[in-house]
Amino acid sequence: MIKAGVIGWPIKHSKSPIIHRHWLLQHQIVGTYDKIAVPSNDLGASLDNLMAQGYAGINVTLPHKMAVLELADYASPAAMAIGAANTVLFKDGKIHADNTDAYGFLKNLMQHAPNWNASAAPALILGAGGAARAVVYGLLDAGAPEVIIANRTYARAQDLAQHFGVKVMAAQWCDIGDVLSVVGTLVNTTSLGMMGQPRLEIDLSHLQNSCLVNDIVYNPLETDLLRHAAQCGCPTVDGLGMLLHQAAPGFKAWFGVKPQVDKDLRDKVLVDL
Ligand code: ATR
Repeated sequence: MIKAGVIGWPIKHSKSPIIHRHWLLQHQIVGTYDKIAVPSNDLGASLDNLMAQGYAGINVTLPHKMAVLELADYASPAAMAIGAANTVLFKDGKIHADNTDAYGFLKNLMQHAPNWNASAAPALILGAGGAARAVVYGLLDAGAPEVIIANRTYARAQDLAQHFGVKVMAAQWCDIGDVLSVVGTLVNTTSLGMMGQPRLEIDLSHLQNSCLVNDIVYNPLETDLLRHAAQCGCPTVDGLGMLLHQAAPGFKAWFGVKPQVDKDLRDKVLVDL
């Protein structure tokens, strides 16, 4: 019996069990995937415990994504560059930390916008939090010539730009409208537009209709940003696929099978939103 799970605090709302249990059933693997509530002051001991209990690995969600990286024996290049881990493999008593958010972000765009070419034009990212770090890493990895980060708190955008080097620059939130005219990719990584959060109100009139627009918010699935972008004639991709695809590398590492992100899985997670 192979055991895996997800740790976080709170953990009640995690969708990861739905995803992994779907794949376990689909592949008839004898395994479990548990929700494990772990408070911050218990993280180190919990990791040791899970390893001692024979867990193959875990997903990591808020608030532990950065702290887990500190405790890891090994970290992937993605986890180090993003500064956070969401996927852990326990191997020979050691903690191997990875970050699959950038992978999930890119796979989602490749699946739903197969003609998208990151290297064709600069990208604009809205937001400068943890999700933005993964998206910037993914876009650079995919060959974006330039990534512009616009954030309400400009200093955070500047910090992130500096972290990633010369291809990444910061823009003022009030300049978004002008920057839109030169970008081929637009991604919202802020919480704006999410159920229960304020709306994302930006003027899309300068957006080129070839620009791919992605929102990593997936509840609601069609955000105002995606609806308005579609009305401008832009290709759009919703955020649910990033959540689904980021889960795949962990499943492969723990259970030994590379799973598919198919419509059945998407529908199963959708009904639980
Ligand atoms: P995550 O790790 O999920 O990205 P986060 O670090 O809390 O979460 O970041 C949330 C992002 O949404 C930030 O870029 C935040 O902007 P600030 O850095 O200025 O806080 C952005 N955000 C949240 N509420 C916002 C609002 N009302 N207007 C503009 N941006 C907002």
